[in-house]
Parts: sequence; structure tokens; C-alpha cells
Amino acid sequence: MRRIPLKLELPEKLWWDHNAWYRRWLFRQLPSRARTALDVGCGHGVLARTIPADEVTAIDASERMIEIASSTDRDSRVRWVRGDVFTEDLGRFDVVTAEASLHHLPLREGLERLRELTAPGGTLVVVGLYTIATPLDWAVEAVTLPANAIVGAVKAATGTAGKPYDVDMPVVMSAPTLNEIREAAAEILPGARIRRRLFWRYSMVWHAPEVH
Ligand SMILES: C[S@@+](CC[C@H](N)C(=O)[O-])C[C@H]1O[C@@H](n2cnc3c(N)ncnc32)[C@H](O)[C@@H]1O
Repeated sequence: MRRIPLKLELPEKLWWDHNAWYRRWLFRQLPSRARTALDVGCGHGVLARTIPADEVTAIDASERMIEIASSTDRDSRVRWVRGDVFTEDLGRFDVVTAEASLHHLPLREGLERLRELTAPGGTLVVVGLYTIATPLDWAVEAVTLPANAIVGAVKAATGTAGKPYDVDMPVVMSAPTLNEIREAAAEILPGARIRRRLFWRYSMVWHAPEVH
């Protein structure tokens, strides 16, 4: 897999959370109230704690992430699981989310596992990272870089800059290209809606058929 090109790093006071940028959109893709939800690669657990479902399971392979997520949790709705999403016996869920975590998994196997975890009639929402590979990707990069700085400056001026990440959060510096993601999803999650997004992200929504 190729490396994600090095971004022009902003000064730290202008850093902001690119995943959180898409959260309001993410919530709009979900049913207003689901019974069960799973957040894959939950990290600090910020998303998992706010998913509108009666029962939320949040899984992360990192012991440190689960320790941080569960220790800041005042909401017993969330079941925190330290484990590998591929091997943990989790069941199926009305809602499955994967925010900035799919690129940690082998793409095809990851999509197959997300499909398996989504209950019939359920909703899968991915906000993911892709590797820049095509002229169009580079054109979008030319817009993303100044937009990233402008949003960072506005956030800094309004006191809302800052990233919840820390040195303990596992990150990987490789991701599939958008074409690879589209090709694999067309096969594994037919009907999935994939959109290129600013800030090095794409989004994917898949509604599982009633029988699958
Ligand atoms: C970049 S973090 C994203 C965290 C969080 N979703 C967010 O948006 O802030 C990716 C997370 O995926 C987790 N992860 C990687 N491989 C995993 C696996 N096989 N099973 C469960 N979690 C995994 C990592 O430990 C890491 O915390």
C-alpha cells in the first residue's frame, strides 16, 4: 500500500479534529433511534458516547484507548470492548460506525467484516481516509490545504481548535486509494454510497438489505 503524502503541518494551535467535522453529517445518516450500535476502532470513545442507540458497543484493539474511553464514560449505555474486530464475537447491530478506523484493517476483509456486523435492514456509516493517487485527488488537495488552514484559524480564533488525539492513539500512515475503496465496496457492499470529502476523508453509507 502507498503512503498518505505528508501534509503541510499547521502550527499546533491551529490543529483541529477532521473526523469530528463529519459527525453531524454522520448522525444524520442514522435512524433517529436504533436499538443496538457498534463503533469500530472507537479510540477515545467520543463518537461512541453520542450515538443515538439504546445499547452501544465500542471496540478498540488498543488497551490504552479502551482505558481512556471507559474512564471518561459517565454513561453505562456503552459497553467498552478491548479486542480485535475480526476475532471478537460481537453479533449484529442496527447501526455500525467506523470513523477513521477502516484504513487500519485490510480493505476487503474489513468491508466483509463490517457487512457481517450490520444487521439486516441496518445502517453502516464509514468516515475514512484515502491515499492521494490521481490528478483529481491532487486538485482536491490544492483546495484542502488552504481550507484546512482557514478552518484551523477560525477555530483558534473562536476557541474551538484542538484535537482529542494523543501520542497513545494508534495511527497508520497508509490507506487504500479512493478507486480501490470504490471497487471493493461495489463488490462487497452493493449499493453503498461513497463520497469524496475534504480534509483527506471519504464517506460511505450502506443500508443492509432485509436479508443478507
Ligand atoms: C485513528 S484511530 C480512530 C479513533 C476514533 N474512531 C476517532 O475517530 O477518533 C483508529 C483506531 O482503530 C483501532 N483499531 C485498529 N485496528 C483494529 C482492530 N483490528 N480492531 C479494533 N480496533 C482497531 C486503533 O486501535 C485505533 O484506536
